[in-house]
Amino acid sequence: MAKDYSKYFIKPSIKDARKRKSQETPVIDFNKHINIKGFGKGRTYKINTYGCQANEADTERIKGILELLNFTESDTLEDADIILLNTCAVRENAENRVFGELGRLKQFKKNNPDLILGVCGCMTQEEKVVERILKSFQYVDLVFGTHNIYKLPEYLETVVLSKEKVIEVFSEEGSIVENIPRVRANTRKAWVNIMYGCDEFCTYCIVPYTRGKERSRNKDDIINEIKELIKEGYKEVTLLGQNVNSYGRDFLDVDYKFAELLKDLNKLPISRIRFTTSHPKDFDLETVKILSQGGNLMPYIHLPVQSGSNEVLKRMNRKYTKESYKEVIDNIYKYIPNVSLTTDIIVGFPGETKEQFEETIDLVKYCGFEGAYTFVYSKRAGTPAEHYPDNTPFEEKKQRLYQLNDIVNEGYLRGNKRFEGKIVKVLVDGTSKHNDEILAGYTENNKLVNFKGNKSLIGEIVEVKVTEAKTWFLKGEQIENSWHSYQRNIKWRCC
Ligand code: 5AD
Ligand code: SF4
Repeated sequence: MAKDYSKYFIKPSIKDARKRKSQETPVIDFNKHINIKGFGKGRTYKINTYGCQANEADTERIKGILELLNFTESDTLEDADIILLNTCAVRENAENRVFGELGRLKQFKKNNPDLILGVCGCMTQEEKVVERILKSFQYVDLVFGTHNIYKLPEYLETVVLSKEKVIEVFSEEGSIVENIPRVRANTRKAWVNIMYGCDEFCTYCIVPYTRGKERSRNKDDIINEIKELIKEGYKEVTLLGQNVNSYGRDFLDVDYKFAELLKDLNKLPISRIRFTTSHPKDFDLETVKILSQGGNLMPYIHLPVQSGSNEVLKRMNRKYTKESYKEVIDNIYKYIPNVSLTTDIIVGFPGETKEQFEETIDLVKYCGFEGAYTFVYSKRAGTPAEHYPDNTPFEEKKQRLYQLNDIVNEGYLRGNKRFEGKIVKVLVDGTSKHNDEILAGYTENNKLVNFKGNKSLIGEIVEVKVTEAKTWFLKGEQIENSWHSYQRNIKWRCC
């Protein structure tokens, strides 16, 4: 008889999710969950990650746990003893890619029956997805969600040693788990979660259901993590949260908000602090003013607008108007004139008229974005917009996307052009994908720069003169032994 897994799931429900209370978030210490070190010795793993930075950060934790258990990372999927797909549920095409990959991996299981195949991340928080995995992909051994990564050692013990299937997904509001070890993807740039979950309930979005309620990390835990990163030589930190501007809103006993966190981080001897993602309704003037002080606070802000029509914004439950969005933008430009702004936009939201789409185009032109992630609306089961009437043909939505992208691309080029002839600071990531002799890295304004240089510069911040602006990147020449880099080195060596 098929096992009944239903006790593990509570169907995503806006009614239940909205009943969230302002209560203290439990903090779990990962160290109390690790009692079986070592059993991964001689075994390898591979993780495929889909979606946003929150997933990238979770993959770093999953790797940290696996390596603590003595598993090592395999170069290829073919050689791995464990394959995990860390999934994204934000749009349907991301989900389809995962199902496609699961289908392809069936052959891997046939070739190697000892292979452990697992699925985790946002998709597994959806009841329908787990049902589909259980029905159509019965060879999957392990399914866990976004709330129970810390229990991975236990699950693997069951799957690897007892050869039993494990399906465990908590539909809970969420806790904060500290001290999960991490294998970071980069040795100079790090993600640091300042909060988890989301309480906004934009009507198109699945995230508040898959990642639980909004919960902020204790400021000391954040600051200590960054201090450790500094000791390890990290130069850039990106603070992560679904709405970083509401950081601290859930604290019951202390009054400490995002602006104060930025103020404290501004004092740390690290070259670059970034953050993502911001919500326009919570981006307050205090934050803008602190960012205007510069230092390690980078002049780059990603501020998703989603639509330029008040009617659509209302139906999206975004809680701001195009006028109030413009006000935020005006203040940002006033206080941080050198800033680069990017955004997210959804076209073809249910009921969006041609005129309402044109309002989005107008707003994009007004805001001077230097980049945007643009999407066609994708219906998500369990969200309010799932039931909104939608009469616009997909072909028409695609045309709107193309029209919008043309304007967005002009913004990319304009944003790059303004740096032509200027000297920019580049944190060198590595070599260019297309040419091993060309280095690639990002400026303070988050512009990709390619320039000729020695590989020893990888991981360093160097000064580059921009010689040519393309739509997607800048070309430049390194400035050797400049006074600025001399000063910079002296400064950071003293700290
Ligand atoms: N359809 C299309 N785009 C979406 N996003 C979130 N949910 C959906 C959806 N159902 C986009 C939003 C968000 C970004 C991360 O993904 O623009 O800002
Ligand atoms: Fe989704 Fe809105 Fe939360 Fe962003 S703020 S994660 S779009 S619900």
